[in-house]
Amino acid sequence: MPTLETTVNGLKMPNPFVIGSGPPGTNGNVIGKAFDEGWGAVICKTISLDASKVVNVQPRYGRLRGRDSKEIIGWENIELISDRSFDIWVEELKAVKDKYPDRILIASVMEEYRKDAWVEIIERCEALGVDAFELNFSCPHGLPERKMGSAMGENPDILEEVSGWVNAVATKPVWAKMTPNVTHIEDPTRASLRAGCEGISAINTIRSVIGIDLDTLRPEPSVEGYTTPGGYSCRAVMPIALRMVMEIARVIRDEFPGRTLSGIGGVETGNDAAQFILLGADTVQVCTGVMKFGYRIVQDMCEELLAFMEKHKFETLDDFKGHSVQYFTTHFDLVKRQQEARAAAKAKKDKKMIQADDQWSGDDFVEQSDALARG
Ligand SMILES: Cc1cc2nc3c(=O)[nH]c(=O)nc-3n(C[C@H](O)[C@H](O)[C@H](O)COP(=O)(O)O)c2cc1C
Repeated sequence: MPTLETTVNGLKMPNPFVIGSGPPGTNGNVIGKAFDEGWGAVICKTISLDASKVVNVQPRYGRLRGRDSKEIIGWENIELISDRSFDIWVEELKAVKDKYPDRILIASVMEEYRKDAWVEIIERCEALGVDAFELNFSCPHGLPERKMGSAMGENPDILEEVSGWVNAVATKPVWAKMTPNVTHIEDPTRASLRAGCEGISAINTIRSVIGIDLDTLRPEPSVEGYTTPGGYSCRAVMPIALRMVMEIARVIRDEFPGRTLSGIGGVETGNDAAQFILLGADTVQVCTGVMKFGYRIVQDMCEELLAFMEKHKFETLDDFKGHSVQYFTTHFDLVKRQQEARAAAKAKKDKKMIQADDQWSGDDFVEQSDALARG
């Protein structure tokens, strides 16, 4: 029987499925529910020291549906990080750790560009007993106006500096969460790994406009008739997330062996997760999928991932982690490979024709050589 158990940066998990930062980890209660349903780890909604500066609006979600099935395939949000006070979070996260001492609880944190704020939030979270950190350098809306979130993640120099502040004080593993809203994801990846982060999480949401209401002519989600570009998630983003995960996996393989990768973006099934792992992910996060289908989906995901492993006779996640990265190359190389393959096929066919010429005679020659030419 294959196993889904895995140890990542020393964190022992029953399976690689992690609740991604967002509504599914928005308080201690729901984090406990996620552990009860069997999630391998939970990353809480992003917290900061002064929640009074975080003011959310309504509505803050917009959805894109398929034309026929009406299934939600894309999801935009203009939600900020948690607007609940840091002191309440400390109490709740402590209670979660007391109730689930063996489960992995990861604090997602974000702060302003001030060293003392980052040091304080890391030290206070370590004191309450979290197992690891995820640095949110990637929220694409609202927070960048305060030079936070993706305003940091888009600037590798700032990313390296802030990651360095954190790693100087953190004794627990630190993952840096990447924004996809950059041209080359490798640059911020290298910056945070150079600064000592143990892992990378990718991707956060993609800056987007979900659509315009053709009756009111107002963009959505409409807040008093106005909006702001938000973050796009859900199934539709998976191909972009897979591409970025593959690019990050190559950086880790070639330049930072031993660092880890947590894949996120559109995951809803065990087969989705298998693809992220094949491209180098150690763990796989799910956020919008839990909002669509509930915490229970982890059970189906585990079953489907195990069935995939059984089919290929993989016993552990390491048996196939990163396997498919080797099949990416340049377009130039694809052209060369195709020319070589076609030349080889033609040579094989020509050889067969010559052998046939040697053997055949009389009336059947025309018929059989025609058949060979057809392939
Ligand atoms: C409503 C909503 C709120 C989110 N809030 C946060 C957040 O507080 N911190 C964070 O790092 N990512 C946040 N995210 C991003 C997700 O963690 C994830 O990176 C992204 O949505 C892509 O994954 P998914 O398609 O599984 O949702 C949020 C996403 C959604 C949809």
